[in-house]
Amino acid sequence: MVERVRIDHVGHRGDGVSLRAGDAVYVPYTLGGETVEVDHVPGNHPDRRKLLAVDVASPERIAPFCPHFGVCGGCAIQHWATEPYQAWKRGIVVETLAQAGIDCEVAPLVDAHGTGRRRVTLHGRFGSHDVLKVGFSAASSHDVIPIHRCPILDPGLDGVLDAAWALAELLSSKMSVTKPLDIQVTATINGLDIDVRGSGPLPTPLVTALSRVAEQHRLARLTRHGELVLQRLPPTVRMGRAEVTLPPGSFLQATVAGEETLATLVAERIGKAKKVLDLFCGAGPFALRLAEKARVTAYDNDAAAIAALAKAARTPGLKPIKCEPRDLFRRPLVPPELRDFDAVVFDPPRQGAQAQALKLAASKVPVVIAVSCNVATFARDARLLIDGGYRIDTVVPVDQFRHTPHVELVARFTR
Ligand SMILES: C[S@@+](CC[C@H](N)C(=O)[O-])C[C@H]1O[C@@H](n2cnc3c(N)ncnc32)[C@H](O)[C@@H]1O
Repeated sequence: MVERVRIDHVGHRGDGVSLRAGDAVYVPYTLGGETVEVDHVPGNHPDRRKLLAVDVASPERIAPFCPHFGVCGGCAIQHWATEPYQAWKRGIVVETLAQAGIDCEVAPLVDAHGTGRRRVTLHGRFGSHDVLKVGFSAASSHDVIPIHRCPILDPGLDGVLDAAWALAELLSSKMSVTKPLDIQVTATINGLDIDVRGSGPLPTPLVTALSRVAEQHRLARLTRHGELVLQRLPPTVRMGRAEVTLPPGSFLQATVAGEETLATLVAERIGKAKKVLDLFCGAGPFALRLAEKARVTAYDNDAAAIAALAKAARTPGLKPIKCEPRDLFRRPLVPPELRDFDAVVFDPPRQGAQAQALKLAASKVPVVIAVSCNVATFARDARLLIDGGYRIDTVVPVDQFRHTPHVELVARFTR
């Protein structure tokens, strides 16, 4: 049923929100103040509408730069001028913290898109009439939108779509792999690093054929479910003075600028601390930079990332880095283990670090720095630290995922 609605504001997920008689209706790709024509969304989505036409456009509306925008689910916002977009994103942090009763300053949003995303996951799926599609998922669906260009990618990912199509075509034609494929690609110093998931075990001739594709596309490395198919060159990235060989599938910040921005904000807040603890350290983007000035102890539950960090820690000129795998949800560091550190940084996954925050709240560590990719779980963990006697400084929101509702932040707590 086609109807006309007025959009009140853009919500925290990036959709326009129309408030009619108290019931919110969500319309993607719209802006506050607009009048739009919409249709109901098939399935069980009573509060969602599909945008058909913008009847009265906001003066803040701009033309999207990508031809796939509105169909591909990768970007939610390309249709909004920079200034109001940035104010909205900062507002997500302000409002979420205020709702959680966290009283603090929030700095202006720091843009950290830089040269673009250095890691993407493409999907290969068969569509109708068994036609292979390689691209990104459509918004709120598992459909794959085939794409041949993505303007938000780092130039280091040039050639990614050709390589992904070649791998998906080979697997689908030779193996009749009809299951969905996930193709995770990372730009490294030595070329593309690709991990393919979903193909199941492969016979030797097919592994040989895959190696040939990897050679043709000059990939640094090709793995299947993390198992090596071919390595032409080590897939390394720079973290401060060190070069780190990435384990397949380990976490990596989405943009180079994002990693550098977060690491700089952390280092500035750590100041002159001599003994630093880096929790949820991944492959070491903070630890390896902090070790230029401080002795660092680092933990993460990803054993392969810890092994990569341990190797990179041998870079000449760095102070010692002690690192070990540890599950910090089940076995957070307890106050006696925290006693020796001048500063602690923690950068958990989206679930946050409730168990570790509780132990930090009971510790005497003078400086705690939180890095977060989820404002809601950050607010919950911040509340624990504040209730434990810490004061929170200005929170800095960071925009690594431009064109999406995702926002990251850095905050310092002191006692
Ligand atoms: C947001 S990433 C941050 C990693 C690193 N600080 C960086 O900037 O690249 C979160 C990290 O938490 C780790 N992690 C997830 N669950 C964990 C757990 N239960 N215990 C310890 N580490 C965990 C992941 O392996 C990942 O490296």
